[in-house]
Amino acid sequence: MPFYHRLGKIPPRKHTQFYKPDGVSLYREELYSTLGFSGVYSNKYHIHMPTSIHRVRELPLHKEVSWPEAPLQYYHFFTEKLRSDGDFITSRNLFLHNAHCAIATAHPNRDTEQFFKNAYADEYVFVHHGTGALLTEYGRLRFVEGDQIIIPKGIPYRFTFDYWTNNKLLIVESSTAYDIPRHFRNEYGQLDEAAPYCERDIKIPEYMEPFDQVGEFALIVKAGNRYFEYTLHHHPFDVVGWDGYHYPYALNIRDYNPKVGKLHLPPPTHLAFKTEQFVLCNFVPRPFDFDPAAIVVPYWHSNCDSDEVLYYVEGDFMSRSGIAEGSVTLHPSGMPHGPQPGKTEAALGAKETNEYAVMIDTFMPLRPTLNVRATLDERYTQSWLPKG
Ligand SMILES: [Fe+2]
Repeated sequence: MPFYHRLGKIPPRKHTQFYKPDGVSLYREELYSTLGFSGVYSNKYHIHMPTSIHRVRELPLHKEVSWPEAPLQYYHFFTEKLRSDGDFITSRNLFLHNAHCAIATAHPNRDTEQFFKNAYADEYVFVHHGTGALLTEYGRLRFVEGDQIIIPKGIPYRFTFDYWTNNKLLIVESSTAYDIPRHFRNEYGQLDEAAPYCERDIKIPEYMEPFDQVGEFALIVKAGNRYFEYTLHHHPFDVVGWDGYHYPYALNIRDYNPKVGKLHLPPPTHLAFKTEQFVLCNFVPRPFDFDPAAIVVPYWHSNCDSDEVLYYVEGDFMSRSGIAEGSVTLHPSGMPHGPQPGKTEAALGAKETNEYAVMIDTFMPLRPTLNVRATLDERYTQSWLPKG
């Protein structure tokens, strides 16, 4: 979590009497804690009890897309070929997953009155296309293209878009929390001067008037592959104030400051966020390596402990042919990969790259789904063969 923050109206001390304007009834304090009571937390002050629900029922929202026969090979697929239809909950299409990581895209094209909560997974949401706001109990977080929004598990939220056409999200669920890498911080927790982003680059929720509305409100709770509809007794965004370290936040990929070397630097140089089971990197426009003899595209490499996923956002992709916006490549662990034929020679003497891409390196193998099969570039596995 980025830093301590407080918003709205809170009592001077925790766990003390905090009265509503009538002077008689109490606000309801909720401690939202992680890692038992040992991790980061926030204290929220509700108008109503956060526990009051009318009923719970299971919904058949899970889309079964397992592909157990998926071969172990290089993959390139086009997520844009599977333009989904639905709201921000139902438009998700899962492409790659393991026990700790699930990678999906979504094209939300309609609004919904429902709220959503991912009970088991923290979410990274990359806004490839679209503008709007993420609404939570913590306030309103306006987003624009390129924003990378971190939504900790268990937070009820709703995405609203300014327009309901041409929206595109990349969503990466994680079984463990997204964190800012420890070596980005100094001993006091402040982002270090050498870190690729600083506190000013991080967007946090802005104050939103609490909703004091009693009625029936639908909260869709995702618990792994199961979905439940909770009918709440009141609007979930009834928080008058909060403070702490636990809240959603965003970093725009355009605000990520890249590092450049005399000779080619390895992918961890582009680290943005980490979890316990994978890392997430930002590739952004930058000058190329500046030694006159440098080979500016990557060397061929094998990474025997990581599956490497690249989501291509925009720009010229220096070492790949046939890549489009929204393309994803998966290079499974231990399989050597690198520039395609002609790309190394073509890049000699180049001074800069204008690419944007997000990389996800998982420590456990990923399983492709039927959505990968449906959008596959069939020639990719053979794309390193000499031409002719
Ligand atoms: Fe790689």
